[in-house]
Amino acid sequence: MTSDRYLRKSLILAIDTSCDDTSAAVVEDGRRILSGVVSSQADVHGKYGGVVPELASRRHIEVILPVVREALGASGVQLGDLSAVAVCMGPGLIGCLIVGVSFAKSLAYASGLPLLAVNHLEGHVFTPFVTDRTPEFPFLSLVVSGGHTSIYRVDGFSRYRELGRTRDDAAGEAYDKTAKLLGLGYPGGPAIDALAAEGDPRAVAFPRAYLPGTLDFSFSGLKTSVRNFAARNAGFSTRDVCASFQAAVVDVITKKIQWAVDREDVGRVAVAGGVAANSGLRTGLTALSQDSGFELFLSPRALCTDNAAMIAAAGHFHFLDGRFADLRLNPKAYLPIGAAERL
Ligand code: KG4
Ligand code: ZN
Repeated sequence: MTSDRYLRKSLILAIDTSCDDTSAAVVEDGRRILSGVVSSQADVHGKYGGVVPELASRRHIEVILPVVREALGASGVQLGDLSAVAVCMGPGLIGCLIVGVSFAKSLAYASGLPLLAVNHLEGHVFTPFVTDRTPEFPFLSLVVSGGHTSIYRVDGFSRYRELGRTRDDAAGEAYDKTAKLLGLGYPGGPAIDALAAEGDPRAVAFPRAYLPGTLDFSFSGLKTSVRNFAARNAGFSTRDVCASFQAAVVDVITKKIQWAVDREDVGRVAVAGGVAANSGLRTGLTALSQDSGFELFLSPRALCTDNAAMIAAAGHFHFLDGRFADLRLNPKAYLPIGAAERL
């Protein structure tokens, strides 16, 4: 149950620079997004077919001040009215994280505001809290992004158990690598998603790594199968390959969610991370939730991909629990969920 203590007031400015988006948001009471700004770096990395960490860090440095200014300006909130500054401290690309954390520390110090250190994955998990529909605890959270694919059981703030995770590529990584080998550019997820809508999902029987008995995932074999198929079948239909690839991803993820719901006996599933924006996955999970009778919390697409409102959503809980970071805060490239508050 959501307890009353989690309904108290806050006004949080949040910042995320974990990968290739510079984002800032102002969120009231951990629920209402007053403003949200995301500056994408797709133009910087597109021609390389993936994120170039050094270029990403440099772009964060260039745009972080204007992005934060824009978020504050659009919210109508003065710096002095804020309750705290929340920042994503990891996991992510270390050079990118350093920019956001250094900026947030400086801002907190200069303005005398408390600092909140938020795990990026915790941000994805708490995304539904800044939408119209908020799950009660406990709920299952599927985080499917470019860097992670995991299912968590969430019994409350800071009470997380990872039920399964990918053993190799994250789902978004499989999308990006497959798109690259098909010559579709970066980021690959939206490109494959769009082409899949026009293709036949039964055209190619790509493998499904169900890994029975576990809630783990494996997507690297799927990507390799697409590569082998493309090498052996000149003149293949890219649309059909995209649709068949997507069908394999969706089949595996929906099966794992079914298993997780049955095993944990929890009737609420939230989905977040960039791949949660995928049309096929949204359709597949919606159908599953109707058949199986669990409540599904699909966030709006703009909140699935990286954004700072989700950092504020989780930051709100840190704030209410009095879990403040100090100016010795350092970012961490590797940071399991739930570890931030133990630092
Ligand atoms: O959550 P996110 O913005 O960043 C990370 O934390 O990784 O996720 C980015 C990932 C990329 O791999 C991108 O290709 C994928 O999400 N993605 C999608 C879609 N939109 C973004 N994958 C499949 N279908 C989409 N529509
Ligand atoms: Zn993310």
